[in-house]
Amino acid sequence: MKINLKIWRQDGPKDSGKMVDYALDNVSPDMSFLEMLDVLNEQLVGKNEEPVAFDHDCREGICGSCGLMINGQAHGPHRLTTTCQLHMRSFKDGDTIFVEPWRAQAFPIIKDLMVDRDSFDAIIQSGGFISVNTGSAPDANEIPVSTDVSDEAMNAAECIGCGACVASCKNASAMLFVSAKVSHMGTLPQGQPERMKRVQKMVQTMDEAGFGNCTNTSACEVECPKGISVTNIAKLNADYLRSTVASEVDA
Ligand code: SF4
Ligand code: FES
Repeated sequence: MKINLKIWRQDGPKDSGKMVDYALDNVSPDMSFLEMLDVLNEQLVGKNEEPVAFDHDCREGICGSCGLMINGQAHGPHRLTTTCQLHMRSFKDGDTIFVEPWRAQAFPIIKDLMVDRDSFDAIIQSGGFISVNTGSAPDANEIPVSTDVSDEAMNAAECIGCGACVASCKNASAMLFVSAKVSHMGTLPQGQPERMKRVQKMVQTMDEAGFGNCTNTSACEVECPKGISVTNIAKLNADYLRSTVASEVDA
C-alpha cells in the first residue's frame, strides 16, 4: 500500500508546530499503525532527519501510552481499539492520513505527537488507592463480593488511562477517566473507608489540572478504547454530592 501522511511536528512545548507531509510506499496491510510509524522513522533516520516522537509501551492495548488523533478520531476509526492495535488494513491504498497529538490544556505537548499526561498521575496519586490492610488469602468458599458487583468494579477497572476521553471531549473533560477510577474502588468493600474523601480529592485535583467540565455529550464513551460507560459519571456525581453533604454535616 502507498500511504500519504500528514503528521503534526512540534519541536517542543514552546514551538508553534505544523503539519508535515510524508509519503510511504510498501506499507503492509498487516502492520500496526505504530509499526508503520516505526518504518517512517527508520527512513527519516536513514536520511539524517529527526524521527517523529510518539508514545508507546506495551503495544498490546494495556498501558494506555499510544494515544493519537488519527483523521480527527482518538485512536483512529475503529471502536474499542487502541492505536497500537489498529492495523493498516483499516485504510485504503493511496489514503491520506492526518496524525495529531491529543489536544487539551491539561496535556501540554512535549514533542511532535507526545503529550504530558502527568495530570492523570496527579489525579491517581490524590485518591486512586486504598490504605486498608486486606489481609491474607480468603477462606475457601468465601464469596465476599457478588458477581454483579465484581463485574461492575472490573468494568470500571478496564480504564487504561489513555486520555482519549479528554481528547475527544469538546470541553477536554476528564470526567470519564476520573469516574472510572472512583467507581472501580467505590464499588468494592476495600474501597469504602476512603470513598467520600477519595472522590473529593480526585475531583479537586482534576479541576486544578485545568480539565473542562462534563456537558453530557458522551463523545468520551464513543471513543474510549475500553468501553468505559458514562454511567460511571453519574456514579461519580452521586458520590461527589453525597461526600459534599456529609462534609457539611460533619463541619
Ligand atoms: S476512560 Fe477510556 S478513554 Fe478515558 S482514559 Fe480510561 S480508557 Fe482511556
Ligand atoms: S502501546 Fe500500550 S496501549 Fe498501546
